[in-house]
Amino acid sequence: MAGKIKVSYVCNSCGYESVKWMGKCAACGEWNTMEEIVRETVAAKQNSGAITVKAQSVKDISVSDEPRYLTNIPELDRVLGGGIVKGSIVLLSGDPGIGKSTILLQIADKVQKGLKILYVSGEESAGQIKIRAQRLNVDNENLLIMTETDVEAICDYINREKPDIVMIDSIQTMQIAGVSSTAGSVVQVRESTNLFLKTGKKNNIPIIIVGHVNKGGEIAGPKITEHIVDAVLYFEGERNQSYRILRAVKNRFGSTNEIGVFEMGDKGLAEVPNPSAMLLSGKLDGVSGSCITCVIEGTRPILAEVQGLVTSTGFGNPRRASTGFDYNRLNLILAVLEKRIGLYFSNFDTYLNVVGGLRLDEPAADLAVALSLVSGLRDIPIDSKTIAIGEIGLSGEIRSVSRIATRVSEAARLGFTKCIIPKASLKQITGEIKGIELIPVKTLGEAIEYVK
Ligand code: TYD
Ligand code: MG
Repeated sequence: MAGKIKVSYVCNSCGYESVKWMGKCAACGEWNTMEEIVRETVAAKQNSGAITVKAQSVKDISVSDEPRYLTNIPELDRVLGGGIVKGSIVLLSGDPGIGKSTILLQIADKVQKGLKILYVSGEESAGQIKIRAQRLNVDNENLLIMTETDVEAICDYINREKPDIVMIDSIQTMQIAGVSSTAGSVVQVRESTNLFLKTGKKNNIPIIIVGHVNKGGEIAGPKITEHIVDAVLYFEGERNQSYRILRAVKNRFGSTNEIGVFEMGDKGLAEVPNPSAMLLSGKLDGVSGSCITCVIEGTRPILAEVQGLVTSTGFGNPRRASTGFDYNRLNLILAVLEKRIGLYFSNFDTYLNVVGGLRLDEPAADLAVALSLVSGLRDIPIDSKTIAIGEIGLSGEIRSVSRIATRVSEAARLGFTKCIIPKASLKQITGEIKGIELIPVKTLGEAIEYVK
């Protein structure tokens, strides 16, 4: 049986693969993005004797005693699930300028002493990196800087020198000479990631790879890199604000719900161990259209302020906008307010905003969204020491949420005195929570009555 060389075409924009060349990608609709890649099939490799596969019993597989390195940045270690797993490939992604290179240098400084760290930069000169390191007070003699973009040369160095941790900044600048497309293209990004992956796994060295987000909000070649790597961390935040949220969107060695909160200052990123206090710090008292809620991010309760601004529509269709909360869910809540409560928003523009760049994915935030909109519509402020927790159902009922005691305790800890909660969740609170009055409600109507 003759081995075959397989030719296929990959879209440079979305990673879609096809056996035929097309002018327009069938998946994402972009023009002129299909690029040829050549691969040997398994049959071809077998014929050439390059493949000898083995399997072993799960009992016989040994792992080293301590499978993780601690970065000693607790916010980061928690997001990673307890430190960097040896031999794992972590993709660190985010908008340009968000602080990816900064946090890498800070990891290199804080990580347990004696580890040899290789920082490879394809973006900056050694001098520029040194200036940043000085600004961050990083002078770890075990931090090695390499300015190189040739992936094969870098992997060769890793194989020879075996550093303990490798950082690649960024994958979009890396290039394999034998691959014909330009650096940053889907094909280069995929092949480079694959080669780093092989090298890391072979030597049991963790590799952190920086990936810039493209204008669509995705990492270049999203499908291809995200499923190859072990963990994907997103660095989020508004450029003009100093807060940064690190979120795991994929993690083979930990939970994906954890977030780490940082603040960018003149000495780099500082951890924010008490995010609730930070997120509420700018809140004005006595202003309508604002309601506090408590969401669970990973294992932690976090208080967040939801703001609703309701203004009369100039003409035509009313505008709806939402930042930090699902747009469709906002429309659903507006529909429930209209149908079940009789509050009409159809002549009003409605803007919803979650303060501090936080994204509320949990339905437990529904009640605060509804109350901030009602408060905004009526222009009546909600008592500033009250928080609201609950999921809204389509019949206008307030449904129970998980871990209610944790949420209420967090509110009490930050000085809130009243907490509107779903009646159905009341039985989950067994002990007494000091300093806070619980207001159990069954329907959205009851909750609105209360804040009126
Ligand atoms: P950087 O880590 O270079 O971002 P990325 O690698 O994600 O593109 O961060 C650059 C931004 O951070 C830049 O706007 C300057 C700012 N910054 C500080 O505010 N303080 C600091 O100590 C450092 C090093 C950077
Ligand atoms: Mg950078």
